[in-house]
Parts: sequence; structure tokens; C-alpha cells
Amino acid sequence: MKFFVDTADIKEIRELAATGLLDGVTTNPSLVAKAGRDFFEVLKETCAVVKGPVSAEVAATDFNGMIREGEKLAKIASNIAIKVPLTWDGLKACKHFTSKGTMVNVTLCFSAAQALLAAKAGATFISPFVGRLDDVGQDGMQLIAEICTIYRQYEYFKTEVLVASVRNPMHVVYAAKMGAHVATIPPSVLKQLVQHPLTDKGLATFLADWQKTGQKIA
Ligand code: E4P
Repeated sequence: MKFFVDTADIKEIRELAATGLLDGVTTNPSLVAKAGRDFFEVLKETCAVVKGPVSAEVAATDFNGMIREGEKLAKIASNIAIKVPLTWDGLKACKHFTSKGTMVNVTLCFSAAQALLAAKAGATFISPFVGRLDDVGQDGMQLIAEICTIYRQYEYFKTEVLVASVRNPMHVVYAAKMGAHVATIPPSVLKQLVQHPLTDKGLATFLADWQKTGQKIA
């Protein structure tokens, strides 16, 4: 399973890339606004640090505008994935870019029917937003299960399920159990994945006992 980080903060991206466990990055207009920096500069710096897909979202909502913006974004680096919304224009733009070999992440997916359309449009990634579904009383992980089941029925669907709007470590674990290809995870949740109180307690005991031996390894 691939781990992407969901942020436009280059400091956090550098820190997590240094673990060697990061496979890509997703950004969106809200994350860019939060970072408070020039979008193109952030993307250039990110693509230099992370060699995997870096999602950059178009702001246009019409097909021609999406093509114009997507072409400009794609020039930044070969690992840019153009992010388009799940609308008819977005799907048309998806088909346009993927047929030219440019990666596309179709975002704002909230139903299995939408995910089916994205696969038919040749999307590289489909981004179902699990946290936002949970927020309105629906079951985000159930949607992931449905999409994984549908995509598995058709060998010619190459679209990867990119679990987005992740809110906690269990979203990541359930996504992995369902066989989702990717999870894009906020930095705080990614850091939480390693934590377990018994690990901390066990390590403290081992260190204390090691001290008692009076030995050194190096
Ligand atoms: C995915 O690409 C989105 O940027 C992101 O996961 C949205 O998450 P949110 O619902 O926490 O804003």
C-alpha cells in the first residue's frame, strides 16, 4: 500500500520524506491557502523532494480552463498528477490528460457510481473522501469497500483507489484491509500510525534493564 501525505507544507513534506516511507503528495486549494505560499513554488519544491505522484488541483471548472491550467501544472515536473473534480468537465479533462500519458487524480468522489465513471475516464487515481462522508453520518469506509469490489471485477480498470479525507489511523488500517492502493494521510495522522503505549512502555523497560548490564554495543 502506498502512503501519500495530504499537505502543501514543504517542511512537513521534507520531514516525512526523510523517513523513506512516503510515496507521494496530495494538495488541494484549501491546503495551499493554509500554507500561504505560491502554488507553483510549493509544487516545484515538492516534486524535487518526492519522486512519486504529486497532485496539483486545477481551479477552473470548465473543460477548456482545466486543460489550460492542467497543461501549465504538468510542465512543472513529470511526477505531477493533475487533480480534477468529479464533474462531467473534470471527467472529460481526465480522459484528455490520461490519453496523453499525464497522471490524473479525480477528486471529490462520494459515490461508487462516480468512481465507476472515473475508471472509465482512465483516471490514474480516484479520491473518495471518507472523513467527509463520516462527518455527514454516512460510512466512508463502506464506499471504499464498494469501489474496491467494483474495480476488481474489471481487469482493464487501471485506476488506483486513493483513500482521501483520512481522519485517523483506523481509516488507514481499514483501507489496507480492503486492498485500497493508496491512502493520502494528513501529517498528524501519519505520525500517529507509529504510536502504541505498549511500545513506549516496553522500550523504557528494555532501556532500564540494559543500563543495569553496564554494557555498551558501540
Ligand atoms: C485529498 O486529496 C484531499 O486533499 C483531502 O484528503 C481532503 O481532506 P479533508 O476532508 O480533511 O479536507
